[in-house]
Amino acid sequence: MLDETGKPEFWEAAFSEKQEMWGFDPANSAVLTKDFFIAHGVKNILIPGIGYGRNAQIFRDNDISVTGIEISATAIELARKQYGSDMIIYHGSVTDMPFEDRSYDGIFCYALIHLLDSDERQKLIRNCYNQLSPGSYMIFTTISNC
Ligand SMILES: C[S@@+](CC[C@H](N)C(=O)[O-])C[C@H]1O[C@@H](n2cnc3c(N)ncnc32)[C@H](O)[C@@H]1O
Repeated sequence: MLDETGKPEFWEAAFSEKQEMWGFDPANSAVLTKDFFIAHGVKNILIPGIGYGRNAQIFRDNDISVTGIEISATAIELARKQYGSDMIIYHGSVTDMPFEDRSYDGIFCYALIHLLDSDERQKLIRNCYNQLSPGSYMIFTTISNC
């Protein structure tokens, strides 16, 4: 995607230059969330801001199906190269959610929400909540200076 000046959007430029910049191991939060989701019978999840999918595979390895949303086309290509093409990843901004009419047992959103402004954060949380099945869970991680 291009920004308002016609240049590649920040994350598109970052993934084009640095490729799989955080390696392929899942973040510790993804490991802990996987255990929580298994314990609570979660079977399908949405990962907004999925990047190149490093946090997706640990869920898929445990029979939890994953759908992603990602703004960078290059990150989606990297995910397809590494993990195959059977995982749905919607190309677009989370500000344009929902991308489909379905609900999820769980949402795992790692290191995205702090990148958004205040209005966009509220919208992301509301849009994620609206895609949850009754009695399901959403987990966000963020960077904070508190
Ligand atoms: C700090 S990275 C974390 C990536 C991934 N969650 C991980 O941990 O490997 C933030 C991710 O969110 C994506 N992103 C940023 N703004 C977005 C937006 N408005 N809509 C969808 N994805 C976005 C970026 O392209 C990037 O993949």
